[in-house]
Amino acid sequence: MNRVKISERIFYVGTNDRKKHLFENNWPLPAGVAYNSYLINDGKTALIDTLEFGSKDDYIDEINSILDGKSLDYLVVNHMEPDHASMIGEILKNFPAVTVVANSKTFVMLDAYYKLPRERFMEIKEGDILDLGHHKLAFVMVPWVHWPETMVTYDTTEQILFSCDAFGSFGTLDGGIFDDEINFDRYYEDEMRRYYSNIVGKYSNMVQKAFAKLAGISVKCICPSHGPVWRTDPAKVLGLYDKWSRQEAEEGVVIAYASMYGNTEKMADTLARLLAEEGIRNIRVFDVSKTHVSYILSEIWRYNGLILGTCAYNGDMHPMMHLLCHEISVSQPKGKTFAIFGSSTWNGAGAKALMAFAENEKMAMTGEAVQLLGAATDEKMEGFKAMAKEFAAKIRK
Ligand code: FEO
Repeated sequence: MNRVKISERIFYVGTNDRKKHLFENNWPLPAGVAYNSYLINDGKTALIDTLEFGSKDDYIDEINSILDGKSLDYLVVNHMEPDHASMIGEILKNFPAVTVVANSKTFVMLDAYYKLPRERFMEIKEGDILDLGHHKLAFVMVPWVHWPETMVTYDTTEQILFSCDAFGSFGTLDGGIFDDEINFDRYYEDEMRRYYSNIVGKYSNMVQKAFAKLAGISVKCICPSHGPVWRTDPAKVLGLYDKWSRQEAEEGVVIAYASMYGNTEKMADTLARLLAEEGIRNIRVFDVSKTHVSYILSEIWRYNGLILGTCAYNGDMHPMMHLLCHEISVSQPKGKTFAIFGSSTWNGAGAKALMAFAENEKMAMTGEAVQLLGAATDEKMEGFKAMAKEFAAKIRK
């Protein structure tokens, strides 16, 4: 097979993981995930990030085959999360002369995992240049995109950005590796937004700071550590990440509900219908006990309206609604038009708990929470008419 080249001296040596069910043992991977790693075979040689341990049996062989008798001089570590870093031990073992290139925060983590001797470590700071011959690598610190030590590597010669988690996506690379080899809009955009909202969303302000730092840099190609390589239209992925990190949402509403015996579900469907009658066309209704929070969070990121409803459960909201509220609290989607509803048999504890959550998160409510006891009859849901009208008016663009 032909080697996959990013440019004349830069090779793609990544892999696909279709075995793992949950990323970080938390987020579903129905379409898998790619771990991207890049090898520069220049006067000096450098590997940029590694892979998750066990994800590619012939990784070391492939590197050796490309190097064709040369040694590996440098391993650049942009980020220490083990999906990129857990092959570092194998690299150190197989290339005993390799120097690990990273920043001082990374060194502390490297030492915690590998007891890396100081003499095998080259500490770089922002603005430093690693000269490989033709390629000259610069480093930009982008803390919290996605861990505190994270940096990106920029090839000043060919204007290629090795961006690690930034501009990444869930989903394996099924034949197509480059943006011009895939149908991005049909499939990857949803997986990329889900990846963004699940993994990076919490750090959106840090993504904006990273954008500010990279503003003056010309980027012809983006090589992330997950998902497609952007050699034809890097502006597209830059635009999406800019939009999501500014929390710019489309017109639409997510209605997420928890229901034990169908009454809260009936409330959700009634409200959804009323919103449709008000002209809202993007309405996504989710049962939180059925749909994994990963997908709900992604849709919350997409749309500008959010409505939560729950039954009462042990004097509180339903446990699965707790999980969604936890993820909302962690990732902090901003600027949502927001409303609440709930049903119970005697004390309205679910809706009360949602109202306490909203107050704590400083999420302003549209109208009063619609609450009912017992069966969800049309009469008891009368309050939804005013809520739907006001809500639709607020989210309409
Ligand atoms: Fe893909 Fe934060 O690691």
